[in-house]
Amino acid sequence: MSTVDLSSKIPNNVNLDQDKKLLRALEQWQPDYLKWWLDMGPKDFQQRDVYLRTAISVDAEGWANFDYVKMPDYRWGIFLADPVPDRTIGFGDNYGKPTWPVVPGEHRNTLRRLIVTQGDTEPASVEQQRMLGHTAPSLYDLRNLFQVNVEEGRHLWAMVYLLHSQFGRDGREEAEALLERRSGDPDKPRILGAFNAPVDNWLDFFMFTMFTDRDGKYQLLALAESGFDPLSRTTRFMLTEEAHHMFVGESGVERIVQRTAELMQQDENEDVTRQGGIPLDMVQRYLNLWFALSLDLFGGEISSNAASFFADGLKGRYKEESHEEHRALDQHYRMTVPKDGAVVEEDVPLRNAMNEVLRDAYVEDCQRGVDRWNKHLERAGITVRLRLPSKRFYRHIGLYADMPFDADGRLLERSDWDGRRGEWLPTEKDRAYVATLQKAVRDARGIKGHPFEYEYVRLD
Ligand SMILES: [Fe+2]
Ligand SMILES: [Fe+2]
Repeated sequence: MSTVDLSSKIPNNVNLDQDKKLLRALEQWQPDYLKWWLDMGPKDFQQRDVYLRTAISVDAEGWANFDYVKMPDYRWGIFLADPVPDRTIGFGDNYGKPTWPVVPGEHRNTLRRLIVTQGDTEPASVEQQRMLGHTAPSLYDLRNLFQVNVEEGRHLWAMVYLLHSQFGRDGREEAEALLERRSGDPDKPRILGAFNAPVDNWLDFFMFTMFTDRDGKYQLLALAESGFDPLSRTTRFMLTEEAHHMFVGESGVERIVQRTAELMQQDENEDVTRQGGIPLDMVQRYLNLWFALSLDLFGGEISSNAASFFADGLKGRYKEESHEEHRALDQHYRMTVPKDGAVVEEDVPLRNAMNEVLRDAYVEDCQRGVDRWNKHLERAGITVRLRLPSKRFYRHIGLYADMPFDADGRLLERSDWDGRRGEWLPTEKDRAYVATLQKAVRDARGIKGHPFEYEYVRLD
């Protein structure tokens, strides 16, 4: 087990004090990061004591320590999962060769791009969520929001460590640029679409952490397979933090659905909005939006980039070891593609289909969460069900980009789609209604054995 140096200005388990040059570079970036956090992090809560967990070791049992912390004092640091001895590349043309401890020259640009793209999502989500503290349903939710925020900040540190330690001056410039782009800013937007979309309310937030953070999980899982070993070790530790973010989303929507079900059960004809419930059709529209935006993050269905990432051993499949064959040559993946105004099945060479392979694993995981929500409807004797829309609905990237598919995956006329948009996506009216809801919707299990009502954030 590698030991974590907590006494250092930058907590770490990578022996930073033995690499003075790297340490200096990161210590120069640190105040810029803090300035970004104060400018763009959670607004108006920076001086509050928040009951947060902080990483103090990377082993499964004891990595988290809970205490009251003011967010700017959070111990953001660099934590890599322990190395796997004699690890070899698990897929692609380099299958079975030793992994790279240092970035290989021929893959330098590609890896930098992958790391920057992942890194950019981390501060973006903090920016998207910065106003939510004011409308938190409870202190429990407020604390969870801030926990997610500080950990996304740490994920930025994780990627910046790779940029600084492996990519020299280019890496340092990229690390600065990560603090300069701004979510939703047309002049200097974040790199990926979903990370420029507004997160205005807690339904957005729960859907975001359910669906968009879950994209993060799958991207991290694919990068955890990487032959570039520092990237693999970094992402493996990030995954332990990511699990909590998805829990926040899945259980957050679950509490909303449960409340709606109760209100519907009390009187099926009664409008649940009269008692502050969110109608199921409205929940469905938010689900549709965030699911579609998140699907785009996986990239095009047929992708030569994805094929070369796989061939070169840079980005693997979800649970690569569970596949029988690791070169993915002479194999095909069946998917639907649009053709002459219809949709047909096609076999695509497996390497070129890697984005779709990862997306399908993600969709299956999302479905499990939706099934769980639906259990509450079933138990309450309600026949309506929530569901994932078609993968073709409201896409902006890939084969179906900007084509007018409805939530069932049927291709409509553009004018027809435009007229019916409000059936599938949140309307102004929906947003105005959700904005009026600021009360706790349901008790949840507390944090670290404390009750739901615990003082997770000290407001004065
Ligand atoms: Fe993250
Ligand atoms: Fe996350």
